[in-house]
Amino acid sequence: MKFQEIKNNIFYCGLNDVDRPIFDELIPLENGTSYNSYLVKGSEKTAIIDTMYPPMSDEYLKNLDENGITKVDYIIANHGEQDHSGTLPKMIEKYPDAVIVTNATCKGNLMSMLFIPEEKIMVVKTDDELSLGDKTLKFILAPNVHWPDTMFTYIKEDNVLCTCDFLGAHYTFDDVFAVPSEKLERSAKKYYAEIMMPFRVMCKKYVQLIKDMNVDMILPSHGPVHKKPDYILDLYADWTSDTGKNLVLLPFVSMYGSNEAMIDYLVKELNKKGIDTLKHDIIRDNLGDLAMGLVDGTTIVMGTSMVVAGPHPASVNIAYIASVLKPKAKFASFVGSYGWGGKLFDILGEILGKLRLEVIEPIQVKGRPTEEDFKKLDILVDTIVEKHKLSGLL
Ligand code: FEO
Repeated sequence: MKFQEIKNNIFYCGLNDVDRPIFDELIPLENGTSYNSYLVKGSEKTAIIDTMYPPMSDEYLKNLDENGITKVDYIIANHGEQDHSGTLPKMIEKYPDAVIVTNATCKGNLMSMLFIPEEKIMVVKTDDELSLGDKTLKFILAPNVHWPDTMFTYIKEDNVLCTCDFLGAHYTFDDVFAVPSEKLERSAKKYYAEIMMPFRVMCKKYVQLIKDMNVDMILPSHGPVHKKPDYILDLYADWTSDTGKNLVLLPFVSMYGSNEAMIDYLVKELNKKGIDTLKHDIIRDNLGDLAMGLVDGTTIVMGTSMVVAGPHPASVNIAYIASVLKPKAKFASFVGSYGWGGKLFDILGEILGKLRLEVIEPIQVKGRPTEEDFKKLDILVDTIVEKHKLSGLL
């Protein structure tokens, strides 16, 4: 495969992984992913920025051969996670004179995860520069966007920024340049939700930093290259904002229909009062949709059935995932139905408690919801409306 030139001797040398079904064994992929790697040919030295996911290393190395890359002086490791660094051991075998360039935190990761010899690694910090002759690489450490070892590499003369995982998408392509579409936006948002949202505050900071840099292109480690950086930066500015949208998320498990009846009632009444809703069947619906909802939702109402004497394990799992992804939601409540007894909400409340949400009085019913229970649901709706009004959303 001939490498596509992105700009003035900067080439795309990554690969698509079209059939990968799931990433991080967490959220299903709809469009596969790409592992991006960039070849930068300076007048004196050649560098490669990030390498390849190990299962695809043979194809990656063969492509380097087919494109006549016989000498590499520097291999920049923007991040230690193995979808980008996992081919480093084979790279230093293939290019024995190459020096791996990374930050101090990533150095430790490369040594412990890949057994890279210390003497092969050059450590850089923010604003350090490396000359390739007519091109200069400048490094910007971006810790916790998303790992502590993350850094960006800026190619000064070309005004392009390699942003590692940041601003990426699980997406594949024939032409490396992004074409804005609903499909790309959905992939980028799902990717943000799963990978970046737990680090929202840091992401927000680096969105502004990159906006201020006024770069010509953004070259992420997954998904297409952005020739119009504002497209992805504006999406991130929205997703990372402190304010949620006028949206209630309603993930639920319903064994015999009682919970779904309550969830449906809440959806109907909230919609009537001008609040958007996302009803999510935890067992049947795509987790990615809920993850994207968590990017925007202000309120979460979980519905759960009872299994033995506690909440359904699938609802516990969703509460845990939400606590890990750290959404910007501010309010939570629970509805649930039980048959003979137990504690429905204690564990869920404890898990979601990590998010410091304001909890609105939960509603627990025995069997099917009665007229009395629907009156309680009306009070829940009114309370949510009030909270959204006070938050300036209605
Ligand atoms: Fe795509 Fe954090 O690795």
